Amino acid sequence: MAFSSTPALPFALFPSLRIASGIMSTTIDAMTGEEIIELCRRHTMFEWSAQAAVDPIPMARAKGIHFWTPEGKRFIDFNSQLMCVNIGHGDERVVRAINERAAKLPYANPFMATDVRGLLGKKLAELTPGDIDAFFFTNGGAEANENAIRIARLFTGRHKIAARYRSYHGGTAGALTLTGDPRRWAAEPGIPGVVRIPDFYHGIQKGSETADEVLARTEEILELEGPKTIAAIIIEPVTGTNGILIPPDGYIQGLRALCDKHGILLIADEVMAGFGRTGEWFSIDHWKVVPDLISMAKGLSSAYVQLGAVGMRRHIADHFQNNVFYGGLTYNSHPLACATALATIAVYEEDGLIEKARSLGVVMRGLLEDLQSRHPSVGATRSIGLFGIVELVRNRQTLEPMAPFNGTSPEMKELGKFFRQEGLYTFVRWNTFFANPPLCITEEQLREAFAIIDRGLDITDRAVV
Ligand SMILES: Cc1ncc(COP(=O)(O)O)c(C=O)c1O
Repeated sequence: MAFSSTPALPFALFPSLRIASGIMSTTIDAMTGEEIIELCRRHTMFEWSAQAAVDPIPMARAKGIHFWTPEGKRFIDFNSQLMCVNIGHGDERVVRAINERAAKLPYANPFMATDVRGLLGKKLAELTPGDIDAFFFTNGGAEANENAIRIARLFTGRHKIAARYRSYHGGTAGALTLTGDPRRWAAEPGIPGVVRIPDFYHGIQKGSETADEVLARTEEILELEGPKTIAAIIIEPVTGTNGILIPPDGYIQGLRALCDKHGILLIADEVMAGFGRTGEWFSIDHWKVVPDLISMAKGLSSAYVQLGAVGMRRHIADHFQNNVFYGGLTYNSHPLACATALATIAVYEEDGLIEKARSLGVVMRGLLEDLQSRHPSVGATRSIGLFGIVELVRNRQTLEPMAPFNGTSPEMKELGKFFRQEGLYTFVRWNTFFANPPLCITEEQLREAFAIIDRGLDITDRAVV
């Protein structure tokens, strides 16, 4: 039986929903966690999942590094939701800016000029590397990458884009074709013209190549593809969901040199690693390299309102003075989102959050190393700033992962269940889990989270042979 158009049903199932004057008026705060989950599961689709398998946490409110269920269960948000609420939840300064902008001018179409649009462009020009100083605003990271590759193709007159396997660039057609991880598979064949260049990391058992090794293989691929057919190389300078992969020194500089040699643009996808996460405004700043295009989202507005952007160097922006930029979105340069981003950036600056990510990152590194020294199931830890990951193994000698590539295992599931039960929210993926707290976390709160992780690792330690 189909439930979708049965008007009386929700009220029978969910007694806390009320009818007023014939119109459904929901006393939202009165809904139980169970009711919220039921309603969401019945009438909405969850991403990247078979719907029967999803097990969402009902989320009612959030503040700082915490969020709560309607029943008052508290979670430490150790993943900043989707690695995006970098300043922490419920910052009054940003909420005020949103309210003020909503009352004044929440929307203007993209052909209008608004104060917040101009001011945000100017501010980003100050923060981004080198002579990047013009920005196209989007709704999120995938659209930023879609427009980045369009700009690269229009500017160079070439069509191919080179990307790596261990990467995620977004869920729209082009961005998903750029994506190397298994989320791409179901969307294939995708858009034409995307080619793969080598990764430096090959999984916990094989480890990492040196910069020279991976650059030599990269140059070979460029030669085989025909360098003059390649518009751009897109990379996450520090890879996010595919493993917090910090490149060997010289790799980013080497890619820059290869791009310069062949007239290829370098696109830095800073959607996840940008805005302080790694202890610099942008992760590519660690190597002092200027990309030609830079995409961003998430931390740009700390996700209080959705916003993405692609920034470009001055000579690329100049190209579009007399050449049409073929791109557009109804919500391009959305004033509410631009105002939110300006307020968010002010918070990073006022509270010194970039420096904080750097200094607390040192503390977190120590805590991760401590876990590795005491827990046999911890095969590797990696972190840069407050961007961290733990890789779990069944055996310290063979480094066999605790779950296979793109899979899970009873132990990883049990660990995830333990974190949830203990009020620690983080991403558990394949044989890894993440440590990406909001940058406003205190050292005491960081230690509290690691104490829960410490206890949880007894579960995976028991599986070690
Ligand atoms: C590196 C990177 N690029 C792009 C995206 C896509 O961003 P969005 O989900 O806002 O479209 C993500 C999302 O996780 C990401 O991590």
